[in-house]
Amino acid sequence: MRISEALDSGRIGVPYGQHGWRPAGCPPKPCGRGWRGVAGLVVALIFGGTLNFRAAETEASRPTQVLVAYDSLSGHTEKAAAAVVEGARQLTGVQVTLKRVEAVVREDLEAADGLVLGCPTYYGTMPGRMKTVIDDWSWKMKVDLTDKVGGAFATGGGQTGGKEFTVISLLMFMVNNRMVVAGPLYRNEKTGSVWAEAGATAMTGPADPGVGEVELDSARRLGHRVAELAVKLRRGVSSASRTNPPSARAPE
Ligand SMILES: Cc1cc2nc3c(=O)[nH]c(=O)nc-3n(C[C@H](O)[C@H](O)[C@H](O)COP(=O)(O)O)c2cc1C
Repeated sequence: MRISEALDSGRIGVPYGQHGWRPAGCPPKPCGRGWRGVAGLVVALIFGGTLNFRAAETEASRPTQVLVAYDSLSGHTEKAAAAVVEGARQLTGVQVTLKRVEAVVREDLEAADGLVLGCPTYYGTMPGRMKTVIDDWSWKMKVDLTDKVGGAFATGGGQTGGKEFTVISLLMFMVNNRMVVAGPLYRNEKTGSVWAEAGATAMTGPADPGVGEVELDSARRLGHRVAELAVKLRRGVSSASRTNPPSARAPE
């Protein structure tokens, strides 16, 4: 419990002019000597500190939560989503939830440290139904996605039918909702060099039907990367409190 909360709940006293401290909730007349207030404050500091410590301990010991939410009509994106889950589960201490995007509720979003979104490509971008659902998380549900780690995947029938653009559109949604985004990493075992991509995609049309092993591997890497960063960011946040960004510069 924070000191301000203890004050609000009446657990500790508040300053009362020249009469020292009075317990909160006491009528506005002197009803206690100064030493009582001071003793109350000391107790509250110890009590509040213990509660704060316990809350921090509970927060640190809970698993890192990754939510994988997807849209899929004929099952291709769902298959990729399952691979994203597999990749995220490779990390210890990570709990992964897989849901269709329309089934996601406020609690899922609030609990998530990492959020991976996937959908098919429709006419070169994400399907309108996907956009409506995710827009409402912010616009209607007012969920705060700040500092959650995000990643995206998409399937598309064509080679250059817009899969990558769909991924970018999902990432753009995330960035605009103050999330931190990442894509899958690849390592060249011979040279040791590492590179990254914007997200995971799969071509599902007649020229290359279904979601192939290489594409599933990308999806696994995406899940792994987002989960890994979510774990790292949580560790960092527990030791450094979030700061307010500087104000936007007014036009000169
Ligand atoms: C209405 C509609 C529009 C589509 N538009 C595109 C497109 O613009 N580019 C593309 O590559 N694939 C397009 N596709 C193909 C789907 O993106 C592809 O089949 C996808 O893998 C389906 O995913 P799902 O099985 O998860 O529903 C379209 C499919 C439908 C039904």
